[in-house]
Amino acid sequence: MLRRGAVGLNLMGDFIREALVSTLDAAGQVHLTPLGYRQRDGRVLLAPFHPSQTLANLQAHGVAVLNFIDDVSVIAGCLTGRRTWPVTPAERVAVPRLAQSLAHWELEVIEVFDDATRPTFECQVVLERVHAPFTGFNRAQAAVIEAAVLVSRLDWLDPVAVRDDFSRLQTAIDKTAGPRERQGWDWLCAALAQHPRHRDTTGMRG
Ligand SMILES: Cc1cc2nc3c(=O)[nH]c(=O)nc-3n(C[C@H](O)[C@H](O)[C@H](O)COP(=O)(O)O)c2cc1C
Repeated sequence: MLRRGAVGLNLMGDFIREALVSTLDAAGQVHLTPLGYRQRDGRVLLAPFHPSQTLANLQAHGVAVLNFIDDVSVIAGCLTGRRTWPVTPAERVAVPRLAQSLAHWELEVIEVFDDATRPTFECQVVLERVHAPFTGFNRAQAAVIEAAVLVSRLDWLDPVAVRDDFSRLQTAIDKTAGPRERQGWDWLCAALAQHPRHRDTTGMRG
């Protein structure tokens, strides 16, 4: 049973991790998007901005899967219109998980804290599975995640600041990227170079 929270949640200063969230749209199709998540008292908090497909899907179905991945090309791909990635059925919820996830958590929404800008969905983890080992940090992966966050905000971020941030992140790509990181980076650079507010500012290398 879904409860509706009366007061908003203060999320400032929380520890945030990034994952790929799967939800179901009105047609029953899986929707994949990168999303930050927080944990509080054993629960998972998801906070998608208005308007977004993930928000509509969480409101409509109340279930999701958190996919933990190290292939950052999936994150860059989803942000640049490449949303078709192999999925496989989850066990406890009717939302598929990403087939290549290293691990996944299946979520049921138990409470919604409404907000005109950014509602928070408090979720119970109904199943956890590990599929493959985590094999360490990679700087280029972190760079692609940072660049993906920038690309998700191109409509309002300052073009010169974005260009400078991409230029700094390029160092980690040059030194440590493998093929998946390079692919993700290239997709994000192309999105930046094509964006009407940014295309005149960027002289990016692909
Ligand atoms: C690493 C990362 C974390 C993100 N976290 C959030 C988030 O917590 N809330 C949000 O609304 N959008 C977040 N975004 C942006 C969404 O992925 C993006 O805007 C998306 O296209 C909108 O969601 P939709 O596909 O459900 O419409 C994040 C993007 C990245 C790359």
